[in-house]
Amino acid sequence: MKAVVWHGTKDVRVEEVPDPRIEQATDAVIRVTSTNICGSDLHLYEPLGAFMKPGDVLGHESMGIVEEVGSEVGDLSVGDRVVIPFQVCCGHCWMCEHGLQSQCETTQVREQGTGATLFGYSELYGSLPGGQAQYLRVPQAQYTHVKVPDGPADDRFVYLSDVLPTAWQAVAYADPEPGGTLLVLGLGPIGDMACRIALQRGVSRVIGVDRVDARLARARERGVETIDLREVDEVGDAVRQLTSGRGADAVVDAVGMEAHGSPVAKAGHKLVGMLPDAVAKPLMTTVGIDRLAAFYSAIDAVRRGGTISLSGVYGGMTDPMPMMTLFDKQVQIRMGQANVKRWVPDILPLLTDDDPLGVDGFATHHLPIEQAPEAYRTFQAKEDGMVKVVLSPHASTA
Ligand SMILES: NC(=O)c1ccc[n+]([C@@H]2O[C@H](COP(=O)([O-])OP(=O)(O)OC[C@H]3O[C@@H](n4cnc5c(N)ncnc54)[C@H](O)[C@@H]3O)[C@@H](O)[C@H]2O)c1
Ligand SMILES: [Zn+2]
Ligand SMILES: [Zn+2]
Repeated sequence: MKAVVWHGTKDVRVEEVPDPRIEQATDAVIRVTSTNICGSDLHLYEPLGAFMKPGDVLGHESMGIVEEVGSEVGDLSVGDRVVIPFQVCCGHCWMCEHGLQSQCETTQVREQGTGATLFGYSELYGSLPGGQAQYLRVPQAQYTHVKVPDGPADDRFVYLSDVLPTAWQAVAYADPEPGGTLLVLGLGPIGDMACRIALQRGVSRVIGVDRVDARLARARERGVETIDLREVDEVGDAVRQLTSGRGADAVVDAVGMEAHGSPVAKAGHKLVGMLPDAVAKPLMTTVGIDRLAAFYSAIDAVRRGGTISLSGVYGGMTDPMPMMTLFDKQVQIRMGQANVKRWVPDILPLLTDDDPLGVDGFATHHLPIEQAPEAYRTFQAKEDGMVKVVLSPHASTA
């Protein structure tokens, strides 16, 4: 089959790889009909490359049709239309039962000390082949799926794999007060969707920050007040000006470690990207070269006693934290990979024909999988108005 394969920093290719097959009784194999590129894939494309091996198949936002099942997949059947959550989760461990599926105790990657196994997300998360491919093996398939109805096009449902639950959890963790102000840093797919969800859930004022025209414009069209990062010295000052000097009640950081704004760290990223893996990995996990620009903005812009919700992925271990400010301002911080299945029942009722979250038109690009290498490049460069890419693995062969 065809798949998007990682070969090195900024080097992904579409290649023939062996078809996946059932390996465990709890496996299913899905014929992938749509699969997205995510901001998280950009971390593997460059800064986290040290944890990838040439030949790894990328992708964690897929949906399709069940092609084959093992003998212990519960009520999942061949022919079912399913979205596959980005994390593999069993549904019966303590974590899954408590709505913490991204910490699933059956699939935790214990040799790395990390949470649940993720599709296509490096040795840090279990080296499981990803879903930017024509077929995908889904472990723990009895629970690692969301059945969706036939009828609407894939775009209606494909964001249940990641964007929707991640944005939902971002807003839920931020927990802005009714009538309050939510600041969303980053208007990529996650930040954009977090704004939509917050407005839909009745947050009266949502302010979004980015530095890309097309992304700022998209958010404004849906009623978000925007701050252009290129036009302000300090995001915190701009936010205080808009909020009677107090700051935002709650902040979602939908940027993560590839934030713009800190040239020193950029130099660190470049350096680590060029080092041999044996040297680069300890640097990434212990010394930490995170670009904390967005998180520092969040700490500055949140009001005293407010909440910061981190969806953006961070990777280092020794990042300097302004503990005095955090403590003095009485800031609450919540974070983590989204627990996809935890939020699906809240989100599904909004995926209707009137489409209140605008999922049907959310993708800016639909491309055949063969164009993935160029799409990665364009998405990283934020060119061509690209915000979200949906790849069709079978378009040219179906
Ligand atoms: N927690 C989870 O489960 C989860 C799931 C999916 C994605 N993520 C993470 O969420 C983050 C966003 O994902 P995405 O797909 O929207 O990615 P993206 O890269 O498309 O979006 C990030 C946006 O932040 C903007 N930005 C850069 N520096 C900024 C700054 N200092 N202040 C404000 N905005 C800034 C960029 O211009 C870009 O539009 C990534 O770190 C991704 O890994 C987390
Ligand atoms: Zn994703
Ligand atoms: Zn579990």
